[in-house]
Amino acid sequence: MQCGKCDLKAVMELQHGALCKSHFISYFEDKVFRTINRYQLIQRKDRICVATSGGKDSLTVLYLTKKYCEKYQIPTNNLFALVIDEGIAEYREKTVIDLELFCRKHNIPLKIAYFKEELGKTLDDAYPIINQGTSKKPCNVCGVWRRYLLNKHAKKIGATKVVTGHNLDDEAQAIIMNLFKANVDLAGRLGPLSGGSEHDLFVQRVKPLYLCGEKEVRLYTVLKGFQVQFAECPYSKEGYRHHIQEMLNEFEHKYKGTKQGIIKSFLAMLPRLQEKEEKQQITPCRKCHEAANNDICNACQMKEVLEIAR
Ligand code: FES
Ligand code: ZN
Ligand code: ZN
Repeated sequence: MQCGKCDLKAVMELQHGALCKSHFISYFEDKVFRTINRYQLIQRKDRICVATSGGKDSLTVLYLTKKYCEKYQIPTNNLFALVIDEGIAEYREKTVIDLELFCRKHNIPLKIAYFKEELGKTLDDAYPIINQGTSKKPCNVCGVWRRYLLNKHAKKIGATKVVTGHNLDDEAQAIIMNLFKANVDLAGRLGPLSGGSEHDLFVQRVKPLYLCGEKEVRLYTVLKGFQVQFAECPYSKEGYRHHIQEMLNEFEHKYKGTKQGIIKSFLAMLPRLQEKEEKQQITPCRKCHEAANNDICNACQMKEVLEIAR
């Protein structure tokens, strides 16, 4: 297969033709930068916290956020990386090593926050207690605590935006999950830019890889030679999301463009969903003073279960 733009060998076939290594890299970077511009994800005055894990998506988004800032002359001394170490044995420590190396090489300050230090236990130790007697998986504890610490530390750093590495596949999965579980309220929090700027308890979250498929991100990381673990979280196979992922991959294989279709339809509905979302009441948690929909936030409620079990 030959590149549609030059004589070289193609590395990937896309809807509008095949591309060689260097044409693929420029196509990919261009798409990310256009997404940032189109949805105004990053602005000159922003102080940017990139939520990283050391995996392929987060290294790509970290690298390209810096490159974007350089291209548009946005001061990169306002750029930070933040990683949440959940305490997942044999997994997180490896990706954190990759991340530390990457940040050192690219001269980006890195902050690490730990479940154990701030919430009392590692994920490995906490979820069996918190989920005891339920059919819930580790992901529910992980998700709540991660979002909690991300927002908390981003605020501490003084960030005005949290950049995340969510790609098109992640987003399509999240949309379908919310639909299948009738979580219409949560759906309004998705999209390339979320978390409402109007609320000072939340830092806005933005997703520059919103229109990039998982395969594209993977190829970009390989072609750029980033040192990265492609291993997934050991709990990922247990979660509901995994089944949705398999189903969507199968569909995509049979009917090309399925995932893109989900994203397109969702973006058309998003303004209405967001109106609904804005009406939700957010108040400071009585215990930790972070954002909460109830008297006590979800993160503190889970922490309480651990304290009672002690
Ligand atoms: Fe659910 Fe890692 S805890 S994927
Ligand atoms: Zn080419
Ligand atoms: Zn709280």
